[in-house]
Order: sequence, then C-alpha cells, then structure tokens
Amino acid sequence: MVNPADDPSARVESGEEGEEIQTDPFPHGADMPPEEFRLQGHEVVDWIAEYFRAVEDTPVLAQVQPGEIREGIPARAPERGEPMGEILQGFRTSIMPGITHWNHPGFLAYFGISGSGPGVLGEMLSAALNVNAMLWRTSPAATELEEVVAGWVRDLLGLPETMFGIIQDTASNSSLVALAAARHRAYPQVRKAGLFGLPPGRIYASEEAHSSIEKAGIALGLGQEGVRRIPVDGAFRLDVGALESALQEDRSQGIRPVALVATLGTTSTTSCDPVEAMARIASETGTWLHVDAAYGGAGAVLPELQSYFRGWEAADSVVFNPHKWLFTPVDCSLLFTRHRQLLQDTFSLVPEYLRTEEADRTTQLMDYGLALGRRFRALKLWFVLRYFGSEGIRRRIRHHIALANHFARRLEEAPRWRVMAPVPFSTVVFRFVPAGLEEVELDRLNQAILDGVNARGRVFLSHTSLEGRLCLRVAVGNLRTHAGTLENCWTDLQEVALGLLGEWD
Ligand SMILES: Cc1ncc(COP(=O)(O)O)c(C=O)c1O
Repeated sequence: MVNPADDPSARVESGEEGEEIQTDPFPHGADMPPEEFRLQGHEVVDWIAEYFRAVEDTPVLAQVQPGEIREGIPARAPERGEPMGEILQGFRTSIMPGITHWNHPGFLAYFGISGSGPGVLGEMLSAALNVNAMLWRTSPAATELEEVVAGWVRDLLGLPETMFGIIQDTASNSSLVALAAARHRAYPQVRKAGLFGLPPGRIYASEEAHSSIEKAGIALGLGQEGVRRIPVDGAFRLDVGALESALQEDRSQGIRPVALVATLGTTSTTSCDPVEAMARIASETGTWLHVDAAYGGAGAVLPELQSYFRGWEAADSVVFNPHKWLFTPVDCSLLFTRHRQLLQDTFSLVPEYLRTEEADRTTQLMDYGLALGRRFRALKLWFVLRYFGSEGIRRRIRHHIALANHFARRLEEAPRWRVMAPVPFSTVVFRFVPAGLEEVELDRLNQAILDGVNARGRVFLSHTSLEGRLCLRVAVGNLRTHAGTLENCWTDLQEVALGLLGEWD
C-alpha cells in the first residue's frame, strides 16, 4: 500500500486520463490531499490529548538501550511513499519507547518545561503556516507579533520599556548574540578586519555561570581563557570583591573587559548573582552587562521576588527562556537589549535579493542574529500568554515555588537529609548525609540513590556537583507536576536511601 498522494489507482478512480498524467503528474497537488490531512490530523490531535491525559502512567525515562531505537527503523528511506496510518503506527511502536517524557509530572530533572496545551496548538499552527519570518515582507504578522509579544513579556518581567526584544531559538544563542554585540562595542574593527593583532579581551562570569557563556567565548574568538570564571560566595553567588580584583589585574596586563555576565538562577543551584553591584561595576568600567535569566527570569513575574532582580533593569542585555519556565514549547528564547542599533550594526548584512523598499519603516528580524530564516515562534508564546493571562502565570509560578519549598522543608526536617543551597525559586539541591561515611562514600551512596529513584520510573531527578560533592536536584517547572508527584518523589527517595543504607552498613 502507498499513500493516496502517490497511488496511481486513486487517479484512475478519479477519472484522470493517461495523457493528463504525463503533462501534470499531480493534477490534485503533490501534497497530502486536504481530506486525508483532516482525517489524520484528527487522529493526531486525539493521540496528543490522550498522551497528555495518561502520560503520568508511563515511566518518565525511556526504557531502551543505546542503539535500540535506531535498529527498529529501516536504514534506508522508503522508495515508495507509505500511508499515513502506517507512519503513525510506526511512531507509536518505534519512536515512543525511546521518548523521555519531559511532559511527565514527575520530570523533575534539569529545569522542568511544559509543552502546554495552548503552546502546542500555537506550534501546530505555525508549522501549518510555515512562514519564514526573515523580513517584514516575508510575513508581516510574524514580525509584528514578535515585536508585540516581546513587549508583553518585557512588561511582565518588569524590564524597562526602552528594551528591545527579539526571539532566538535558545539561551545559548541569545547569549552568543548579546556577547557578540558586546564584543562589537569593545572592538568595533573586528566586524571588518577580524581579531588579528588586537589586545586580548575578556568576559567575566561566575564559576556557576552556564557553559553557554564559555561556548560564546569560543565562538567569538576570545577562547575559553577569554571567559574568566569568578569565585562564588557560600550561597553560590558571584563574589563582587573577586570580580573587582580580576578586572584590575587584567587591566594592568592590557586585557580589555568585553562583558560582565550575571546569572539570575544558575543552572546548578538557581543562585542569583548580585546584579545591582555588578551593574555599578559595569557602569564604572564602561563594560557591557549581560544577564542570563534563562530559567530564573520567570520569577520576576512575582512582586515578592523582586529583591533578586534589583539592578537588572540597568543591564545592556538580558536573556530569558519562555521555553523553560513559561510553559512555551521548545524552542523559544527572548533576548532583550537596550542597544537595538548596536545589535543591528553587529549582525546586519543585506545582500541584494533581501532588499525591500519598506526596510526603513519596518523591522527585519534577520538583522539581529546569525540566522537568516526563522520560525514563527511568537505565535505559540502569544497563545500561552493569552490563555493563562499574567495572573494565571503568576499563580502557576507561585505554586511551583510553594511545592519546591514544601519539599525543601521536608528534607530539612528529616534526619540524614541536607538541603545544600538556598531555594530562591522552584529548585531544591540536596544530599543524603548519614553519619559515619567519608565524602567519597557519600558521593557513591547519593549516586546510587539517584539511579535507584530514577529506575522506579515515577520521577526523574538529575544531579550536580557542589564544592566537589555529588548532590541531587528536584526542579519543579512542568505544569502537570502536583503535590502528589513530590509525595512520590519523597517516598522513593526515602525507600531507596534507607534500603541502600542497610546494604551499606
Ligand atoms: C542559566 C542557564 N543559561 C543558559 C542555558 C542554556 O539554555 P538553552 O538550552 O536555551 O541554550 C541554561 C540551560 O539550562 C541555563 O540553565
């Protein structure tokens, strides 16, 4: 059986002549016929709705061995088209077993994310429209909606109106783009002449800053050594005194500061760097301040968390990921900057075929990053913002924080468990610390607890290393996570830890 679009008998049945077929092999269009799309589309939506309803009954982690999924898929693409029913069946039987369920309520690893209902519907529509929003002309609505929703999110986070926002795919690329603009400001000649012969430059970020900052250093030709890691204090926040000393030392050696990076919500513990003090240093030294609030930025929607964000309004650029803790399907990262023109000067390069007469009156999204083509990501974000509303978003973020804090209190009250870092948002870092074991043994024990809990399938936790010690993390961020999920998590941790302790003894 082949698919209806390629089925010659379907053409005969519809009364087509042989000659016609030769002159126009696809008289009804070469794509899937609309009626078939409607039928299969309903199937897919039904499947998604059922998936959302029942995902909790599935183990969070895929239960497959490396290579298993690949072996179940033919090594060569089919010569003849296949019917959609068979393709969907293949999806269920060959692909689904290899899926780790980020939409599972028990997904508490890394940072929780949500393929929310409104976000998925927005994503479906943007896939259907398939516009490429590189120029205003190539889809005015995609460009203008992106401008509008960037403003909505900027206001929701309390960032100044003077900030221009643009959607990128990931925080890694948003930071790269922001730091490229910072480098352009520090070395305007690089755009034309490259780095050759220039004094070295440096980016300053804490030891806890995300690896994407160091990757940006690699991509921008500053190198990994061009990102100086600044020590942190006891609460894993950048040490301002150490930053000042590093800047002074580097300046005396002719090293030019390119940017300071403050993280609000570090990947490991969600600590918040002292952004106000860093903004002062940035202003005194004329250095660009970039804020990585990829996860933590969502906390800025709450008035009670404003103290963590004080000073970020002075940043030159801020990255925040709606695809992390703002319920928008991957990928969607927002980059805000006070230097729209500079960002454009950094990246804009317009070949003849992309020139339009309205360019000076409209925004050309291709001018603010490396990619020319870009997806219509604003649509799903618009759906999410409208469906939940600012008030609904605040309630959900607050609920996640409450769940995490309740879990942290439970750990603190239990014997042998220790919370290893403050909990500003919805992530708890902890460790099982029974008396009488050496640090290396505690590391092995905690690794075994992590493996044991994850093998049970009800929750998925990840780990981090703090001061060389292996710690476990619970990060609440998925819209389906509820109090019962954390009850299960606690039961599994206790049972696995106490069981292992018996063996350890
Ligand atoms: C603080 C921080 N910045 C940046 C990133 C990178 O995010 P993305 O996957 O969008 O590149 C992460 C990822 O978890 C992060 O925690």
